[in-house]
Amino acid sequence: MLASAAAVPLLGFARDEAMKERAGRAGMLFGAAVRASELRQDAAFRAAITRECSVITPELELKWAWLEPERGQLSFTDADQIASFAASTGKAMHGAALLWHLSIAPWAAESLADKPDWMIVRRFIASVIPRYGEVTSTWDVINEPMDMGHRVDGLRPSPYLAAFGPDYIRRALEDARLFAPKARLFINEFGLDYDFPVERDKRYLLLKLLEGLKKSGTPIDGLGMQAHLELGKQDHFDPKVLAQFFNDVGSLGLEIRISELDVKEADGTLPTAARDARVADAVRRYLDVAMANRAVGTIGCWGLSDRYSWLESPGDKIGLNRGLPLDSALRPKPMYHAISEAYGIRGG
Ligand code: XIL
Repeated sequence: MLASAAAVPLLGFARDEAMKERAGRAGMLFGAAVRASELRQDAAFRAAITRECSVITPELELKWAWLEPERGQLSFTDADQIASFAASTGKAMHGAALLWHLSIAPWAAESLADKPDWMIVRRFIASVIPRYGEVTSTWDVINEPMDMGHRVDGLRPSPYLAAFGPDYIRRALEDARLFAPKARLFINEFGLDYDFPVERDKRYLLLKLLEGLKKSGTPIDGLGMQAHLELGKQDHFDPKVLAQFFNDVGSLGLEIRISELDVKEADGTLPTAARDARVADAVRRYLDVAMANRAVGTIGCWGLSDRYSWLESPGDKIGLNRGLPLDSALRPKPMYHAISEAYGIRGG
């Protein structure tokens, strides 16, 4: 007879466990953004990613400006390295991001401003998506389409909007589906987490956008919540407001990925333990809401360790921002445990 799970002493079991195992038991994924250069140069970091993550997101390497700096000269070396690392370690890769105003290749932006030719966009989508079809089952097709204060629909002025109007979103999703029939397609957005007027408006208008896409039968499978939390904004964190938004998105039949979780600190002069406790507390409060909604299936951080963080340090003298799960020596911090415990809510 097989040993029953109940015979395993749970505490000791959980202590040595990697995050991806806890996530897996909860029926979920745990991910982080990585760079090819980090994986190449840093064996200890590579081991940490290997151990902890079930999905990895190339931080830069799939973006248009990176892949095709000159028209027609695609260079897949770095993206291929991340993809084969993912494949050889049994991880999924998340594709980020096809259309993002900040990562459009400069030649493409110029060309679209000159002549709005959708074939330029389609050629890019067609050259990238199928190459990673085996390892990449989720794509951010549009990144950060919203920006308040410009238009009544809340869409961000961008080279894509200027060239094709609001319909660029539908077109990109249709093309992504065409070239990746099995992949789940996402819109990824930031600034949706707090109870400020501008974030309230953004949530409302993004919901309208998602609703419209669903109604018109446009292929969209989910929303990526970037979840770049900020300790300076925590007074405006309202779990009820966030829960309502998750419910609204889930009610449209959409999946939710927590796609870029990290925490920007506000006060780097506090003792380290207090800083880490604040970061973990913000994450715990957020994930309590996220875990209560079955539409949420992935928690991804924008980096795994403070060793490689895009977050700026909160002041000159106190060194790194401590807003990622592992410290710069790759040791788990309270934020790591907050995520791990969140999986516990779902049985992980
Ligand atoms: C960031 C990278 O981490 C930086 O290294 C780069 O300079 C700018 O982009 N939202 C996103 C990510 O969707 O692609 C961004 O990544 C962070 C904010």
